[in-house]
Formats: sequence, structure tokens, C-alpha cells
Amino acid sequence: SENKAPAAEGGTAAAPSAEKKLSVGFSQVGAESAWRTAETKSIRGEAEKRGVDLKFADAQGKQAQQIQALTSFIAQKVDFIVLAPVVETGWEVVLRQAKEANIPVILVDRGIKVSDDSLYTTLIASDFVAEGRMAAEWLAKQTNGKANIYELQGSTGAAPAIDRKKGFEEGIQQYPEMKIVKSQSADFTRAKGKEVMEAFIKSDRDQIQAVYAHNDDMALGAIQALDEAGMKPGEQVTVISVDAVKGAFEAMVAGKLNATVECNPLMGPLVFDTINKLRAGEKVEKFIQSKDQLFEKTSAAQVIGSREY
Ligand code: AHR
Repeated sequence: SENKAPAAEGGTAAAPSAEKKLSVGFSQVGAESAWRTAETKSIRGEAEKRGVDLKFADAQGKQAQQIQALTSFIAQKVDFIVLAPVVETGWEVVLRQAKEANIPVILVDRGIKVSDDSLYTTLIASDFVAEGRMAAEWLAKQTNGKANIYELQGSTGAAPAIDRKKGFEEGIQQYPEMKIVKSQSADFTRAKGKEVMEAFIKSDRDQIQAVYAHNDDMALGAIQALDEAGMKPGEQVTVISVDAVKGAFEAMVAGKLNATVECNPLMGPLVFDTINKLRAGEKVEKFIQSKDQLFEKTSAAQVIGSREY
């Protein structure tokens, strides 16, 4: 039946007995964005469908809470750990403990920096640098290589904030008249996106030509601030972000967001397929990459109905 754990064999995990459900500890960043909520739903839903005993821990954006959750998963002797890391660094100690306990760790959506790559089994994620580059190339085309850009960064120290900034900067490098005038973290949230944009408007109102936000939620907050200031987002100010969540499509249909680069959060099926492969003793790639594409407001109305998140 669906509820029975697959035959226990192979892999590096401690093999559960035939009656015991597969147990997986999932440490999630938090619920800062619509994207994050969609990812949580996908992983929890898939676990339920497959009869996996999923232990879920929401870290509320704090690495210390994630480390605590991992420590507890190790003590509970789970079969696998799935980690969506808040930040890139600071994982060595707890991941070494997981390794010593023979518990494979699967990173989802965000990478980490460790001196020893064997501390995690695989990373299932998008290429954030490529996303940033895609946003830059689109904006360059859209503005004929001339724009005063205001950047809303994701959470400080998080892989998507670091890499989306890096990719974007690489992408605009060949355009001397594309300048990031101001860049500030707005923590991937709509509320902070609005707050930071309000401050940008207050000091730089007449210079703002484009907004690049590391996720849709911050862009939606910025759009609200621009709207309230009577600055016509989507027309007078070009706005581009990353994620491609439903709210972004709605904003594009309304003409207020110009484009969004997709980042797929629906990783539940892939996560548990990967776990099954590992349990069967199969090798998996160190980086399992999701493919992303860019959506523009011109086609948003046709696409919105088929969006799953
Ligand atoms: O790691 C993925 C990023 O984290 C998403 O783009 C953002 O919305 C989220 O909070």
C-alpha cells in the first residue's frame, strides 16, 4: 500500500524496517513569502501522499532554530534530513553530527558554503546567479541599457540574495549607463519591501527608473509604495522581480509589474523521488537544477490560469 515504506535496502541511510514508515525531518526557513509557503505545501503534501512520517520545523528565519531542529532530528534518528537553509554559512558542526549519525542531508532551494562537500548529499534548487543575470538582460533590453536601478535584496547572508545580486551585477556590467543607485535588504517580505521603497522614494523620487527585487513579495510591497506616491509602477518605473508567484501574475495583469523570473518551489515530488533513489542505492547528482524562465506582463493574462502557485 502507499503507506508501506519501500523495501529497506542500500543507500547510506539507516534502513527502516518493513513496518516502520520512512521518517524525514524537514527544517524550513519560515513563511516569509508566498514562494516559501508554496514550497512547504509541496513538500508536506507529497510526504502525506507517500505515507512518509514528516517532522516539520519552521525556523522563523533564524539559523539557531534550524540548528536546534536538526539536532532534534538527529536525536530522533530520522532516516533523512531535508534542509532549506536560512543562510549560507555556519553549518559545519551540525552537519558533521548528521554525517556521524549516518543521516543523509538533502538541501532544498538554497545552497550552503562548507569546507567539506560530503556534509550534504545533494542540493535541489534553481541557479540563482542565472536568475539574476536573466533579470538584468531583460531590463537592459527593456531600457536600452540606461537605467537608474533601485535594488531590494533578500535576507542578508541567504544564497538567493547573494547570488541574485551577483548575477544581476554581472548582467549589467557591459552597460555603463545601467547603475544600481541604491541597494538594501528587505528580507524577502512584502512589508519590508514597501518600507524600503518608501525610503528610496523619500530621498530619490525623481531618479528612480527601475526596481529590481530579489523576490516577488518585496516587489509587490514596492509597487504599493510607488502607487501610493503616484509614481505609476509598470509604466513610469519598470519593476522586475524573481519567483513568478500568483500575486506577481496578478500584478502583471494589472500592468504594475513588468516581469518576473520563475523560481520553482514545487519540489515535493523531486525531493521524495531523490530520497527513494538514495534508498535504492542509486547515485544522485550533487546539484539537481530546476529550470526557470522569465514571464513578462504582455503574456501574463494568457499564462496566469495555468500557474500552480
Ligand atoms: O530561496 C528561495 C527564495 O526564498 C525565494 O525566492 C524567496 O521568495 C524566498 O523567501
